[in-house]
Amino acid sequence: STISNPVAEKFLHCLTQDSNATTSDFVFTQKDTEYSSLLQSTIINLRFSTSTTPKPLAIITPLTYSHVQSTILCSKHFKFQIRIRSGGHDYAGLSYTSFQQSSFVVLDLRELRSITIESDQNTAWVESGATVGELYYWVSHESKNLGFPAGTCPTVGVGGHISGGGFGNMIRKYGLAADNVIDARIIDANGRVLDRKSMGEDLFWAVRGGGGGSFGVVVAWKVNLVYVPEKVSAFTLSKTIEQGGSNLFNKWQHIGHKVSQDLFMGVTIQPALTEAGNRTIQVTFNSLFLGNVDKLIETVTDSFPELGLQENDCSDMSWIESVLYFDNYPKGESIDVLRDRKPEPKVYFNAKSDYVTEPIPEEKLEEIWKWCLEGDNPVLVMEPHGGKMDEIEETRIPYPYRKGYLYNIQYFEQWEDESIESAEKHISWMRKIYENMTPYVVKNPRAAYVNYRDLDLGENDNADNTSYLNAMKWGNKYFGKNFRRLAIVKGVVDPDNFFFSEQSIPPLIMSK
Ligand code: FDA
Repeated sequence: STISNPVAEKFLHCLTQDSNATTSDFVFTQKDTEYSSLLQSTIINLRFSTSTTPKPLAIITPLTYSHVQSTILCSKHFKFQIRIRSGGHDYAGLSYTSFQQSSFVVLDLRELRSITIESDQNTAWVESGATVGELYYWVSHESKNLGFPAGTCPTVGVGGHISGGGFGNMIRKYGLAADNVIDARIIDANGRVLDRKSMGEDLFWAVRGGGGGSFGVVVAWKVNLVYVPEKVSAFTLSKTIEQGGSNLFNKWQHIGHKVSQDLFMGVTIQPALTEAGNRTIQVTFNSLFLGNVDKLIETVTDSFPELGLQENDCSDMSWIESVLYFDNYPKGESIDVLRDRKPEPKVYFNAKSDYVTEPIPEEKLEEIWKWCLEGDNPVLVMEPHGGKMDEIEETRIPYPYRKGYLYNIQYFEQWEDESIESAEKHISWMRKIYENMTPYVVKNPRAAYVNYRDLDLGENDNADNTSYLNAMKWGNKYFGKNFRRLAIVKGVVDPDNFFFSEQSIPPLIMSK
């Protein structure tokens, strides 16, 4: 469908009636040559970039907040759904496609990406269209002792990322990105621009981790910047099962969440080849330490001597260089790449998540490795919690997985061809391992991370007919007991369910 009918013409006219701009400055329809490249620019999961993926009637790239306001009001008037896109990294493509309604537009915040650092207060205002890489770049540009705790992939958008919580390798020291938000600017379903004071504490609570796309368009966040030492250190150490990888993983399960808050040791598990050419499982420890190499070795040796960490496994670097290290850039790469907003690599992928509160019994690990080996190209990524995460109340913001949660697991599989058979093969492997893992992870409800969005957990029917009970299927998994409060906030701020997606929070209207 193209936007050529009279309704659509009126919609375009509506967008500019209160401003001097012409729509050609910020509205791109299927008639425009830029449309396709703009749409594809930040799509990272190619599963939602095929010829059958529903496409928006228009992509609107607001240059000012008033363009956001008019997009909301005009979309509402003409009954178009909007999808908000910041960095486009949504696992299920919900920021740029809609599987339930053909009349939708994408509100892409790419032009709203200014970053203003108030270094005397160690705070920054960052607009949602910035990437976390840009934020890291400018923060470290301001001071070698400032950083921000968020995800490890630099092209993730600040807008969606903070909306869903956001964590990376400083989670144990400083918590989630959303834990460090102190103010926000949001444009609500009535087109009002609100800040923390005018939106009130309930809505301010909900936008810090309640998942993107439900409450309004967050255009900017005010965040606390955190202290990082001038030199940090890092190591990557891999051991196959034959080299004792299972024992190390088991030990890590007992200490990864308890060690010094300055030490983050993430784990990835994936197939690899032995020297003899056999397929085996490799356990890799990826670690960031907020201190120098000597102190790192001392700290790891104290609690995890089995790892046998040596000086030549470790490197000293600045915090901003560690961002590149964790994104697998070669040593010596210029930090300017963090300003390159182009997401790479683009692949077909599928993911799920879990949380663990009791170490998986060591004797069960072999079976799990066997399930992994049944996958084509799987990786299990485990991120330790503990530290600061233990100190934050589970109701402080919507992200509930705090004290007592040892680590989360992300199951991830990627592939390179578009065929349905290929997708089905990988997705069925994923569903099977997820099912098999049930005894070892948090259940009733099963816990999941909203930023690793998984539509297998359940979907809304359509915007006119959402059900809180139905949405509990995934809402309780993402938010635990906080889900009900999110639905009540939604009922107050957007009772007509204008901000809707397959997994948006449904309004729960409380009778007075
Ligand atoms: P995108 O623009 O797709 O938005 C995601 C959701 O939020 C959509 O529902 C969208 O409508 C909504 N939304 C976007 N902007 C909004 C706004 N301004 N206001 C309101 N709603 C908005 N996570 C993590 O915690 N740690 C990590 O290290 C990583 N690493 C990582 C690597 C890679 C390669 C990918 C693809 C993803 C991750 N993630 C992650 C997950 C990531 O945090 C998650 O996908 C975020 O929601 C992405 O935010 P974007 O703005 O890029 O997405």
